[in-house]
Amino acid sequence: MKKSLKSLKLVNDQLFTNKMTIVYADRFKLNQILLNLLNNSIKYNKEDGNVEIYLEEEPHKEPQYVTIMIKDTGYGVSTENQEKIFEPFYRVKEFASYTEGTGIGLSLVKQHVEDMFGEVGVKSEEMAGSTFWVKFPLKKRNILCL
Ligand SMILES: Nc1ncnc2c1ncn2[C@@H]1O[C@H](COP(=O)(O)OP(=O)(O)O)[C@@H](O)[C@H]1O
Ligand SMILES: [Mg+2]
Repeated sequence: MKKSLKSLKLVNDQLFTNKMTIVYADRFKLNQILLNLLNNSIKYNKEDGNVEIYLEEEPHKEPQYVTIMIKDTGYGVSTENQEKIFEPFYRVKEFASYTEGTGIGLSLVKQHVEDMFGEVGVKSEEMAGSTFWVKFPLKKRNILCL
């Protein structure tokens, strides 16, 4: 089934100013993480659904982190499945029959995020949508830009 998305929105004032958020990260792994999460946010969305991408910094907290959130309006993930979906080859039965996949995307995401001293998780309400988030430590001396 081909999905048509109503909107893909970047919700981040910083993207429209000169301020840049800089994290210490492996560019290849970061790309893979974002591609996997975006791919899922479209694949498991409803027809005419929306996807929003947020970037959040917590400059007053120590240690400092930057969080990227990808929010969809899809089927959501039950509380019971929220940890399991990060295991290799795990797919939610109800949706597996009408979407193709291998079940390894999120386990790769988790591996890559943890390799970079970050964290990953999901907040979700069944049939209403999910917000997948990844959190990375901010560095004062920077290597790669985001
Ligand atoms: N944005 C999402 N909304 C609802 N369910 C999701 C979402 N992302 C992942 N899932 C669930 O987690 C499972 C594992 O995801 P993933 O590891 O990317 O494998 P795949 O997409 O190949 O099935 C998916 O099969 C799906 O059941
Ligand atoms: Mg996937």
